[in-house]
Amino acid sequence: MSEVAKITLGEETHEFPVIVGSENEKAIDISKLRGSTGYVTIDPGFKNTGSTTSGITFLNGEEGILRYRGYPIEQLAEQASFIEVAYLLINGDLPTKSELESFENEITRHTMVHEDMKGLLRAFPAGAHPMGVAASLIVSLSTFYPESQDPNRGKEAMDLSIIRLLAKLPTIAAWSHKFSERHPVVYPKNKYNYVENFLSMMFEVPTEEYKIDPVVAKALNTLLILHADHEQNCSTSTVRVVGSSHANLYASVAAGISALWGPLHGGANQAVIEMLEAIKADGGDIDKWINKAKDKEDPFRLMGFGHRVYKNFDPRATIIKKECDEVLKALGINDPVLEIAKKIEKVALEDEYFVKRGLYPNVDFYSGIIYRAIGIPTEMFTVMFAIGRLPGWIAQWKEMLEDKAPIGRPRQIYTGATVRDYTDIANR
Ligand code: ACO
Repeated sequence: MSEVAKITLGEETHEFPVIVGSENEKAIDISKLRGSTGYVTIDPGFKNTGSTTSGITFLNGEEGILRYRGYPIEQLAEQASFIEVAYLLINGDLPTKSELESFENEITRHTMVHEDMKGLLRAFPAGAHPMGVAASLIVSLSTFYPESQDPNRGKEAMDLSIIRLLAKLPTIAAWSHKFSERHPVVYPKNKYNYVENFLSMMFEVPTEEYKIDPVVAKALNTLLILHADHEQNCSTSTVRVVGSSHANLYASVAAGISALWGPLHGGANQAVIEMLEAIKADGGDIDKWINKAKDKEDPFRLMGFGHRVYKNFDPRATIIKKECDEVLKALGINDPVLEIAKKIEKVALEDEYFVKRGLYPNVDFYSGIIYRAIGIPTEMFTVMFAIGRLPGWIAQWKEMLEDKAPIGRPRQIYTGATVRDYTDIANR
């Protein structure tokens, strides 16, 4: 017999179905709770609320498991290309050789952005944060492709919007950096793959030929795969909620980019490096900063530590840490900030405060050090995360539409003033 959950309110007991996922995860389906009892549930930050069923990513925070469409993250990070993973996330299965070739060709053919976009880029001040620029330019794609504004125009139209978005984000990201520096932009080149193309647009200068370093390209490929999806996190939930109003793909993903920007989410990779730099500049007293993080009166948090879901370890951080050591060795870089990071990790992992709360280094603790080693400016770190997360946002947006998800619209418990009469300003 299938399990049911019983809720007793006063004299009455109500039964609710239990939903069981393919990995035996269980949820009480309370979608009819208000209708049958008049009650709603309250769960600030949705710490305990499943907003959807999903067949894209499986994550077990207790055991440190992360799988895209069933494939372990460790295998994908080691063996796949980012575009292969994007195909997997969006379409559900790994591509055959010809499917992959055609997907790559389609993306390669759409990497150019409209020349008028340069006018938008020019309008931003020098030094504009590339996350603000990227979010603005992504939403503006819906004006360059007005037919994309209706997300319900069928599979062909949806596929084209998806290809355009995947193809153009690296160009937009690299150009946002070049414009911010007031340097000439570099156009995409069809001879390069996805990762190489981004590196060339980011680093090529007119005065010198740019040579792709395979160590750098491999590191970037791995980082993008590790960030490609993470089920119902803050930015992905944002993409789904915005998309649930049938806002177009570009508008939904631009909202996701904005959500990612915050330092408690994707912005943590920039915040980690800024924190490590600050600790270094302050003389490198690790204990002082650990104590600051533990002090409830002090707003400082150890950036790159802790995760809503992982309470033992973040499997992505394990892969990244290894990759970080390899990249720095291969590039011959001796980064004092890495030494500080390692010391902090050691102290925090043995400190009762962090152990008791299950606070471990997350994916962002080491990703910034790799980005730095391969020459990505600190302000671009979160944009790199956005490039990586894009296939996940797209896959989740597509699944939400295909599942005909209802518009996202939570309830609340009102705690403000009860009804009162307006008084004339002279009598207040
Ligand atoms: N430093 C110090 N204390 C921390 C930290 C931290 N980094 N993270 C959590 N805590 C403490 C909290 O103060 C709280 O303590 P309390 O129980 O005594 O009140 C306890 O640990 C639980 O923390 P919450 O904030 O309730 O946990 P939540 O799941 O809401 O937050 C989050 C998770 C936002 C990631 C948090 O750990 C954090 O702010 N970390 C730093 C920012 C960061 O690295 N973000 C990147 C996340 S990964 C990603 O988005 C890719």
